[in-house]
Amino acid sequence: MKVALAADHAGYELKQMTVSRLEAAGHEVIDMGTGSGESVDYPVYATRVAREVAGGKADRGILVCGTGLGMYIAANKIAGIRAVGPCSVEQAVLSRRHNDANILCLGQRMMEDKTAFDIIDVWLRTGFDGGRHARRLGQIVELEKNWLAPE
Ligand code: RB5
Repeated sequence: MKVALAADHAGYELKQMTVSRLEAAGHEVIDMGTGSGESVDYPVYATRVAREVAGGKADRGILVCGTGLGMYIAANKIAGIRAVGPCSVEQAVLSRRHNDANILCLGQRMMEDKTAFDIIDVWLRTGFDGGRHARRLGQIVELEKNWLAPE
């Protein structure tokens, strides 16, 4: 799978570890920064990955900041993005099965590395159930048409 990743300074270490783990697992990784622990602004990085996913250049995206929350808010401003910030493996599974989430946001300061890796692994391998959930995603597309300005 082609996965675009980015982080701000507060998510840099978890992002680096995730890049290595995904490459070792055979994924095609697009690392969109940041490249150090120097302070940067998370909306810049959320936008990079969101555009990559919304434009079809990556299958999925992963964003890391301190809490996961800023990335989550910013990424969902881009049409076509369904960004989620699960705190548990169960939420991660359901975000794929019910919401067809295409960007995963994580907070490096909020959870142990192992929890983050468990969430990432299950999120990448879980599919979308479709059916009634597809109808609801169609309603979200209508919301985007009415409320999000085209780029
Ligand atoms: C940076 O200090 C922090 O605010 C950022 O990483 C993120 O948690 C924002 O939502």
